[in-house]
Amino acid sequence: MLSTTELTDLDREHLWHPYTSFTNPSPVFPVRRAQGVHIELSDGKKLIDGMSSWWSVLHGYNNPVINKAITDQLHQFAHVMFAGFTHEPAAQLAKTLVDITPAGLNKVFFSDSGSVAVEVALKMAIQYWYSQGETQRTTFLALRRGYHGDTFGAMGVCDPHSGMHHLFHQSLSRHLFADEPECKFGEPFDERSFSNFSHLLQRNRQKIAAVILEPIVQGAGGMHFYSPIFLQRVRELCNKMNVLLIADEIATGFGRTGKLFACEHANISPDIMCLGKALTGGYLTLAATLCNDTVSDGICRGKNSIFMHGPTFMANPLACAAANASIDLLLKNDWQKKVSNIEQQLKKELEDCRTMPAVADVRVLGAIGVVELKEAANLAELQPKFVELGIWIRPFGKLIYLMPPFIINETELRVLTTGIKTVVRSLA
Ligand SMILES: Cc1ncc(COP(=O)(O)O)c(C=O)c1O
Repeated sequence: MLSTTELTDLDREHLWHPYTSFTNPSPVFPVRRAQGVHIELSDGKKLIDGMSSWWSVLHGYNNPVINKAITDQLHQFAHVMFAGFTHEPAAQLAKTLVDITPAGLNKVFFSDSGSVAVEVALKMAIQYWYSQGETQRTTFLALRRGYHGDTFGAMGVCDPHSGMHHLFHQSLSRHLFADEPECKFGEPFDERSFSNFSHLLQRNRQKIAAVILEPIVQGAGGMHFYSPIFLQRVRELCNKMNVLLIADEIATGFGRTGKLFACEHANISPDIMCLGKALTGGYLTLAATLCNDTVSDGICRGKNSIFMHGPTFMANPLACAAANASIDLLLKNDWQKKVSNIEQQLKKELEDCRTMPAVADVRVLGAIGVVELKEAANLAELQPKFVELGIWIRPFGKLIYLMPPFIINETELRVLTTGIKTVVRSLA
């Protein structure tokens, strides 16, 4: 077993972390174990988790039910190729996803990660139109401030300027971007906020394969919550213009926004939906792209009846078993009450931040609490301060936000909100 120093030395020498530099790395904290909402560092310090490991861990760490589901499956088989074989964990999971997602999403394609689920969705849309003989339909209409992942197709539909991928801009396919929805969640809808989207879609309908967006919450692009009426208008116009709609629910799926899927806020069903992150309760990497019968029939009855995608680890049985157990736990354990309690507490306790000089805005939706600063946060400075306070919060850009596991209790959540207030107050 490595000592802490050996571990950090090896890490420093060889390991690349997400969005970091080797020459000027931000600190990393060695983890020894994690249990419930606590992440324990190698020096024994316990941190209350405010991030759900990038929005994926719903039921906390080391959950006995999910552990057992994975171990039981492990004793059967860890993996088999999905070409030519099928298995119970995948079939069960597909049935559950079809049952709990918005009406009409009947077909499920499993893949490895959120970004790949987005690639699959884009390919489904292109292949659908190809099969109809509309081979010119290869452009996507996305939203500014949107984020859909780090692979090339996904990067191509992320905001080209303010997003994280502007440096690759010249190498990406050219798509269309409508103004971000400025109408906020919970505020009266202003029809003018839809005019740019409407104009772009009507003008380019002949070449657009699909609209892609994050429903209600634009996450990594700034944690903005927008009006469900905007989403309803998008659905209506896509129907009218005969353009497919892809909802990227990778961050919002499985209850995070207070509805099981964010599309439910607008009472709409997309043609294609991407799921990932919380799908396995944050245990293993798995994603799903669902589509309706129009899309699957369109692809499979067309010129090229085979859908051209097939990852090696498609429908990995361990990951599917974890997902089945996680969704079961979610549905059985009154997730709505839990998320609603978290929402009420976040609203009450983060409100104090609003009057702090460093703060531009405070907003809460479901189990997401955001404190937006006037200036970008200094991660290298703030992260150790949070760790010192025994909490795990990782700011990005101007945002300090919380997305705790749903099992967090009132006292633990108060430690997180108090920690944020202490640190944000010190910024003044
Ligand atoms: C909305 C959305 N789509 C796609 C992705 C990419 O998912 P992954 O990191 O699993 O590739 C993310 C990740 O943050 C996301 O928030």
